[in-house]
Amino acid sequence: MEKKFKRHLITAALPYANGSVHIGHLAGVYVPSDIYVRYLRLKGEEVLYICGSDEHGVPITFKAKDLGCSPQEIVDKYHAIIKDSFNRFGISFSIYSRTSSKIHEQTASEFFEKLYKEGKFVEKESEQFYDPVAQVFLADRYIMGTCPKCGNDKAYGDQCEKCGSTLSPDELIEPHSRLSGEKPLKKMTKHWYLPLDQYEGWLKEWILDGHKEWKINVYGQCKSWIDGGLKPRAVTRDLDWGVPVPLEDAKGKVLYVWFDAPIGYISNTKELLPNDWEKWWKSQDTRMIHFIGKDNIVFHCIVFPAMLKAYGDGYILPENVPANEFLNLEGDKISTSRNWAIWLEEYLADFPGQQDVMRYVLCANAPETKDNDFTWKDFQARNNSELVAIYGNFVNRALVLTHKYFGGKVPQYQESDLTPTDKELIASIPQITEKIQSNLDQFKFRDAVKEAMNLARLGNKYLTDTEPWKVFKTDPKRVAVILNLSLQLCANLAIAFEPFCPFSSKKLQAMLNLAPKNDEVCPTSAPNGKVRWENLGRIDFLEADSPINQAELLFSKIEDDVIDAQLQKLANTKKQNEEKEAQEAAKQVAPQKDECTIEDFDKMDIRTATVLAAEAVPKTAKLLRLTIDTGIDQRVIVSGIAEYYKPEDMVGKQICILANLKPRTIRGIESKGMILMAKDQSGRMRFITPQEVMVNGAQIG
Ligand code: 2FM
Ligand code: ZN
Repeated sequence: MEKKFKRHLITAALPYANGSVHIGHLAGVYVPSDIYVRYLRLKGEEVLYICGSDEHGVPITFKAKDLGCSPQEIVDKYHAIIKDSFNRFGISFSIYSRTSSKIHEQTASEFFEKLYKEGKFVEKESEQFYDPVAQVFLADRYIMGTCPKCGNDKAYGDQCEKCGSTLSPDELIEPHSRLSGEKPLKKMTKHWYLPLDQYEGWLKEWILDGHKEWKINVYGQCKSWIDGGLKPRAVTRDLDWGVPVPLEDAKGKVLYVWFDAPIGYISNTKELLPNDWEKWWKSQDTRMIHFIGKDNIVFHCIVFPAMLKAYGDGYILPENVPANEFLNLEGDKISTSRNWAIWLEEYLADFPGQQDVMRYVLCANAPETKDNDFTWKDFQARNNSELVAIYGNFVNRALVLTHKYFGGKVPQYQESDLTPTDKELIASIPQITEKIQSNLDQFKFRDAVKEAMNLARLGNKYLTDTEPWKVFKTDPKRVAVILNLSLQLCANLAIAFEPFCPFSSKKLQAMLNLAPKNDEVCPTSAPNGKVRWENLGRIDFLEADSPINQAELLFSKIEDDVIDAQLQKLANTKKQNEEKEAQEAAKQVAPQKDECTIEDFDKMDIRTATVLAAEAVPKTAKLLRLTIDTGIDQRVIVSGIAEYYKPEDMVGKQICILANLKPRTIRGIESKGMILMAKDQSGRMRFITPQEVMVNGAQIG
């Protein structure tokens, strides 16, 4: 039998405070967790929803260095931006705090100290890279060099962002410190490790045997980590930004960001409830759920639980970790460095008051079981043909007709007035609302919101089938039934959509006089008024004769030009990225080729020539047919330069050719030789021309 819990502790991954948040973050973590929390609150459950900024880690120190400011200034700036974006999107955290707070430092230090004193860490000295000029140990990210796989000269010690290879600093060609530019040395340093290998048996039992109900992507990742054999993980780093290691002999060392960040969930709870936090963390009556993205699975399912287990003292473990996959944008991976993202601040500026549209689209298209794609066309279609045409349209028709025919009061009817069509509607409503609930219970938010829309669809069909506007003149009693039931369905929608689209839901609740006027958009306590989950499925909770307010539009149509502007913005970004990448590529100097002899070189007949005529090769985009004077003959060379030169640009130009290259037939044309080309600074191919005009056929060597 399923265990009944008294309260729910819901955490959402702490975002790094070194940049803004984008729709990928929202879709992966914050929209689903907020939906779930709102659902629990509507049910009257006791819920805490914990989040905050993750303000430590090496990338923050880099950003600070690049911008010439302190890490604290960086996190202050982004903490404020992120907090504001979440708030404006209605993400209803109980607390959104930060890991640079005093209480976090105390909590994380104390956590480490207890584990240290109880001998739960393994102490190990090992050789690490050291910058002899800056006199600091270097995290892998602090070391740069040339990637041995692709030649990128800006590869990091842990990864090459160009070819995606995972690297270690030892593999880099010409490694240098990002701080001083010096070649790093190796020096011994001491660190503390959490021996995950000792928790392997327990983790197997707890996750692999005990949590088979976890999402397949989450369970699968845990299984492959555990089956692959767990190794001790260092929980400290040589760095000057973070929570200092609270030991005498640990000067210049801080807790590893992935050790302190999850403790942030605890310290933020303490900050909110200084006297009451323990019941949330140390009671078997609390059900803890971590909402995260797939890149955080190992830390939330293996490392943090092992930390809590090692600490003991009654700390609970997560009941579930419904991690999502990633959201792509218009077919490409979302990328901060390539600015391939929809930033929340930008969306809020371009679509004021339309937070619910984005929330709805991100939920309807959530990357729950696999990576998914966000497209602006889909965004527009879901708004125009679902939110506007189904949900908004139904609500508007029901309210406008009630004002027209019944003076804005919920009309009364008798049970005996019900027709088979009405009875069918009454039976269908709870069937759908049960599906909404069961999907929410299983963290299947896509299916849940689809069912919520089906509820509106049902209402639309009912009005279309019963046509009250045609019946009123002859049978107002019939219309009273139709509109009463339609309004009851509107009230159901106001509840059903509240987790997904809280802003429009609040608007609808106000139109129906369901919620007290001072009810906030983000309630942190159990709801009052009639907006309660237990009322969902009922068709009698708007009382007859009670007044309703004027209809206001819940959603409005998004026109093509608005979407085109967004697509143009992305097209501009793509173009800028391509230009930047081409420039970068052109700057990369290819490594020297294998040795050759003078005899090898002498075999090549390289000489000057002049282009006499040029034309595009029909039905090709890249090829030009060039007739050239080589000094020894006139011949044809087919060259793939049409991307870079028009035929008329080439005529009369002096070029250099490899004359004795074996002839080849390209598109039916015999090509005798090759034009010498090189890339310019922007990555475009240019032909090589002598500095002064020479006779054709002058040999180069
Ligand atoms: O991946 C990230 O964005 C991390 N900052 C998440 C941390 S979650 C938790 F452990 F704090
Ligand atoms: Zn590479």
